[in-house]
Amino acid sequence: MGVVKEGCFPLFPFFTLHVILSLSIPLLPLSVHSKCAKNPIIFNFGDSNSDTGGYVDGLGLDFVPPNGRTYFHQPAGRLSDGRLMIDFLCESLNTSYLTPYLNSLGPNFTNGANFAIIGSATLPRYVPFSLHVQVSQFLRFRSHSPALMSNGYKDLVGDGDFENALYTIDIGQNDLAASFDSLSYSQVIDRIPSFITEIKYAIWSIYQKGGKNFWVHNTGPLGCLPQKLASFARDGSELDEHGCLVPLNNAAKAFNAQLGDLCKQLNSQLINATIVYVDIYSIKYDLIANASNYGFTSPLMACCGYGGPPYNYNANITCGRTGYTVCHEGSKFISWDGVHYTEAANAIFASNILSSNYSTPSVNFNFFCNKI
Ligand SMILES: *[C@@H]1O[C@H](CO)[C@@H](O)[C@H](O)[C@H]1NC(C)=O
Ligand SMILES: *[C@@H]1O[C@H](CO)[C@@H](O)[C@H](O)[C@H]1NC(C)=O
Ligand SMILES: *[C@@H]1O[C@H](CO)[C@@H](O)[C@H](O)[C@H]1NC(C)=O
Ligand SMILES: *[C@@H]1O[C@H](CO)[C@@H](O)[C@H](O)[C@H]1NC(C)=O
Ligand SMILES: *[C@@H]1O[C@H](CO)[C@@H](O)[C@H](O)[C@H]1NC(C)=O
Ligand SMILES: *[C@@H]1O[C@H](CO)[C@@H](O)[C@H](O)[C@H]1NC(C)=O
Repeated sequence: MGVVKEGCFPLFPFFTLHVILSLSIPLLPLSVHSKCAKNPIIFNFGDSNSDTGGYVDGLGLDFVPPNGRTYFHQPAGRLSDGRLMIDFLCESLNTSYLTPYLNSLGPNFTNGANFAIIGSATLPRYVPFSLHVQVSQFLRFRSHSPALMSNGYKDLVGDGDFENALYTIDIGQNDLAASFDSLSYSQVIDRIPSFITEIKYAIWSIYQKGGKNFWVHNTGPLGCLPQKLASFARDGSELDEHGCLVPLNNAAKAFNAQLGDLCKQLNSQLINATIVYVDIYSIKYDLIANASNYGFTSPLMACCGYGGPPYNYNANITCGRTGYTVCHEGSKFISWDGVHYTEAANAIFASNILSSNYSTPSVNFNFFCNKI
C-alpha cells in the first residue's frame, strides 16, 4: 500500500507533480511525497465518502463484488470500485490507508484511525455513528492510548502525536439527503444551522484535547447524484444546464456557505489552530460539468446499477443486488453506484485537493507535516 501503482489508471488530464515523467507512457498520477519528518498521523470523521471499512467491520460483513474490482480486486469495505479520496490523500503522504476504529482484528493505528462510517450524519446526535458518536470514540481512543502504550501495546498513537495530527472531516451529505426525503426545501434550509453546530462542536472537542490541524471538506453537489436524479427529476423543470437538480444543489451550497463561515470563525477563535476549508463541491461539480474534457462519458449515469440511461439507477436493483448491470470501463464513469464515486473520479478529486487551489487558507494537504 502507499504508492500509486502504474497501470491502474486511465489517462490523466492533470496532476500537480514535482516530477513529470515519461515520454511514451501516459501521464500517471504520482504520489506527491510530503516532507513529513515523522510518520504523519490522521484522524478522519465522516460518512461513506471516507469510510475505509468501518461499516463492514462493525457489522461483520463485507460488500459484494463488483465493489472493489478496479483496485483492490475484491470488496474492500469501501463503496466504490477502488480507492476513495482519503486513500489518495494518504498515498500523497506516503502513509498506509487509515485503519477503521472499529477494526478489532489486528488493527494498526500507528498513522491514526478512521471513524467515518457509511450512512453517518451530524444529526441525530446520539445514534451510531453520528459525528458526535465518532468524536466520542476518538476521545476514548485518545484517553486510553497512553495507558495501553505503557502496558506494551504497539501500533497506537503516542500522547504528543495527537497534537500534531491532522483531523479531517467530511460529513453533511446524509443530513441533507435525509432531510429532502421528508421536508420541503425551506425546511431543509432551516435545519442547516443545526448540522453546522455539530461540526463546530466536533472541532471544539478535538481542539480542547490539543488538536490543532483541521481539514474540513464541504459537501458535494447532491443534486447531481444519479440516485437523487432517478427519484426527484420527474419533469425536468428543476434541472440546471448540466442536468443536476437545482434545489438539492442549492441546499448543498447553503450548507457550504455556513460551513465556510464556521471555518473562518474558528480560525480566528482557536488560538494556534489551522482550520482548512476545502471546496469539494466545486471540484465535483466541475468534473461533472466538464466530464468529457476529462475523458468521462455519462457524468449522471451510474456505472453499476440498473435501468440504463439516463441514470442507470433503480432503488430496488442497486449495485451488487440481483439483476444489476455494471459498465465495462469504470474509468469512463464518474458515479460508481448512483451515490458513490468511481476510483477514477476520486483520483481526480484528490489531485485537485492536493493542488491547494480549493483550500482556504491556501495551504497544502501536508501543511501539518512541518509542525511535526
Ligand atoms: C515511502 O514509504 C516507503 C515504504 O513505506 C519508503 O520505503 C519510502 O522511503 C518512503 N518515501 C518517502 C519519500 O518518504
Ligand atoms: C503499522 O503501520 C506502520 C506504518 O503505518 C508500520 O511501520 C508498522 O510496521 C505497522 N505494524 C504492523 C504490526 O504491521
Ligand atoms: C500557541 O503557541 C505558542 C508557541 O508554541 C505557545 O507559546 C502558546 O502557549 C500557544 N497558545 C495556546 C493558547 O495554545
Ligand atoms: C469547466 O471548465 C472550464 C474550462 O476549464 C471552466 O472555465 C469552467 O468553470 C468549468 N465549469 C464548471 C462548472 O466548473
Ligand atoms: C420497487 O419495488 C416496489 C415494491 O415492489 C415498487 O412499488 C416500486 O415501484 C419499485 N421501484 C422501482 C424504481 O422500480
Ligand atoms: C491550480 O492553480 C494554478 C494557478 O491558477 C494552475 O496553474 C493549476 O493548473 C491549478 N491546478 C489544478 C489541479 O487545478
